[in-house]
Amino acid sequence: MTRPESIRVSGGNRLYGEVAVLGAKNAVLKHMVAAMLAPGDHVLENVPTIADVATMGEVLAYAGATCRRDGTSLHIHVPEHPRPEAPLELVRKMRASILILGALLSRCGEARVALPGGDDFGSRPIDMHLDGLRDMGATFELKHGVLEAQAPDGLHGTEIYLEFPSVGATENLLLAAAMASGTSVISNAAREPELTDLAVYLNKMGAKIEGAGTSTITVRGVGSLAAATHRVVPDRLEAGTYALAGAISAGEVRVLDCVPDHLRMELRKMEVAGCEVTHGEDWIHVVGPERPEPVDFATLPYPGFHTDMHPQMVAFLALADGTSIITENVYAARFRYVGELNRMGADIQTDGQHVVVRGTDRLSGCEVDGCDIRAAAALVLAGLAAEGETCVVHADHIDRGYAGFVDKMASLGAQITRE
Ligand code: UD1
Repeated sequence: MTRPESIRVSGGNRLYGEVAVLGAKNAVLKHMVAAMLAPGDHVLENVPTIADVATMGEVLAYAGATCRRDGTSLHIHVPEHPRPEAPLELVRKMRASILILGALLSRCGEARVALPGGDDFGSRPIDMHLDGLRDMGATFELKHGVLEAQAPDGLHGTEIYLEFPSVGATENLLLAAAMASGTSVISNAAREPELTDLAVYLNKMGAKIEGAGTSTITVRGVGSLAAATHRVVPDRLEAGTYALAGAISAGEVRVLDCVPDHLRMELRKMEVAGCEVTHGEDWIHVVGPERPEPVDFATLPYPGFHTDMHPQMVAFLALADGTSIITENVYAARFRYVGELNRMGADIQTDGQHVVVRGTDRLSGCEVDGCDIRAAAALVLAGLAAEGETCVVHADHIDRGYAGFVDKMASLGAQITRE
């Protein structure tokens, strides 16, 4: 049996220096799907070399498009007649593949997309995606694990009220509404910056979208869209992870090419924990405390504390001088990393969606399982501050969301290697 990929980190070095981030994973994946709405040649700029972009490239290739990389630019050629299908092996590999449903339905009047199952975060339903598309005139039938969608008369604009501001559902509906007949109004829409960036790209393609970044998005459907060029918004999760790497190592790190405003809540909580945080328009400078103060926080849709920064922040607070209480409001089952941090000597208990972190003054390195992207990142951060060596296995999860992670950490002075 081949051993899983692992990252080894030896604790004790204070990180120091500058690190630049690229475009957001959670934006570029959706932009790639959006490209399917218009035939021709699109260019996405500031695209990170991460595994999820490659997987979405496979999803697009299956539908008949071609993707070609040129440095950090991604050239996408979309055919006149895409194949309206996404197979199970790709949807399983990456749940964001489900986003292609709205785009293909809109473009082809039909789509066959395998239904994703559960994952480490629980069952992750897509009921809101489907309810909204149904309201726009789509019908669905589940046949042998494949969702067969039809909209023979095309999709039509309508008013949709989401019961939760789901990022994926808002995006799927936005993609479907861009070329639907009439006007769509999405209320209680997600307000994430990546979604706002998607609307900017769609508008460059000729869509008529207003209100992205607020809770009410209005989309006036247009007959057709045209290929466009777009620079992807910086990755706030990558930026936040490096800022916390500086903080947990009691070091001093400057993150470049980011949007500090997209991390307002996370940076505020880091300040309460004792970090010195300064920022300009596109950089963040963090000086970590010798030992963090405890901080309570609750994850919430944007502009609340991002659920994808929760494990990294808990790793930091595991070393606090006191007890922090965290409430996870987005993914009730996002706690597999807790047991791994406890193996390193953390004192963390979960109760339902709550996490009680009793700070300890030392962590000790060992082998831990990086069970998802952010869990793996959190465990590497813990390893930076732990005594001895930490080996994060299943580190390939890191590759899904962080380009050049080990090299960037090493450039800041971390003792880190990949096996
Ligand atoms: C996206 C991000 C993910 C991030 C999350 C929240 C991508 C590829 N992924 O995921 O990294 O953690 O936003 O910021 O961009 N839900 C339902 N029914 C639905 C849809 C969602 O019950 O139809 C639930 C989910 O199970 C979850 C919550 O709503 O508990 C939030 O999900 P959602 O905002 O849709 O997240 P994703 O788009 O899947």
